[in-house]
Amino acid sequence: MGALAAVTRLRIAKLSELPPDTNRVFKLGGTSVLLCRTEAGVFAVENRCTHQLASLEGGRMRGRHLFCPKHGARFDMGTGATAGTLAKTPIKTYRVHIDADDNITIDWPQSSSPHSDGVTDMTQVQTSKQIVTRFLELFSSGAVDETMAMMTDDATWWVAGTMPISGTYDKAAFAKLLSGVLDTCTGPIRITPRTFIAEGDRVALEAESFTQTRNGRNYNNLYHFVFVVRDGKIAIVKEYLDTMHANAILCSA
Ligand code: FES
Repeated sequence: MGALAAVTRLRIAKLSELPPDTNRVFKLGGTSVLLCRTEAGVFAVENRCTHQLASLEGGRMRGRHLFCPKHGARFDMGTGATAGTLAKTPIKTYRVHIDADDNITIDWPQSSSPHSDGVTDMTQVQTSKQIVTRFLELFSSGAVDETMAMMTDDATWWVAGTMPISGTYDKAAFAKLLSGVLDTCTGPIRITPRTFIAEGDRVALEAESFTQTRNGRNYNNLYHFVFVVRDGKIAIVKEYLDTMHANAILCSA
C-alpha cells in the first residue's frame, strides 16, 4: 500500500461567501481552485479542465457533477472522475471540511514524495507562501472577521516602533486595532506583496500598502513582514514599516 501524502488544512472562505448552486475561484499561490456548492455538498477541484485546459469557473452543476463551460465535459467533483468520452483524465480534487463556524477548509497536499526531505521542504515552503498570500488577500478585502479566522487563536501581531499603535497585540486586540484603523479610512488597506523569502513555516515578505483616510490623505507604506504559519493559519506576524508615515497618517486621522 502506498504512503499517504501529507496535507495541511487551508482555510478558503466562509460558507456564506459561496451561495447555493454557485462556484467561485480562489487563487492559492500558483494554483487556481474552484469551490463549488450544490445540494450534494461543497466540493473543491483544480480549476482546469483536462480536455483542453479551460477554466471550469461558471460551469453548470448537477448534484456531484460539474460541466466544463467550454465543450461540456462532465466531472465528478468528489472523485474527479470523468463521465462521457470527451475528457479522459480526471480533474484534481481536494477534500473539503466545514467547521462549526462555517469556515470552509481544504486538505492541501504538502508532499507527493514523503521519502524525499528536499521535496517535502520545498512543498512546505510553497504551502507557507500560499497561506500568507491568501491571508493578505483577505486582509486587503477589508473583511476583518474573515481575516481573523485565518489566524490561530493564540496568534500575536507585533508592530514596530514607538507610535501609539506600536507594540504586541493578541488576536482580539489586533482585530480591534484593525477595525479602528479601517473606520478612519475610505476603503480597505490593500497590501501588495513584492518579494517573498520562505523557509519551512516562516515567510519574510516585502510589501506595499495603499488606502485613503476619510480626511483625504493617502496612506502608502512600505513593509517588511515576518509571518510564522501553523496548521494552515497565521500564528505570528512581525510588522516593520515606515513608522513616521504611519504615525503621521493613521495616528492623526
Ligand atoms: S476544455 Fe473542457 S470540455 Fe473542452
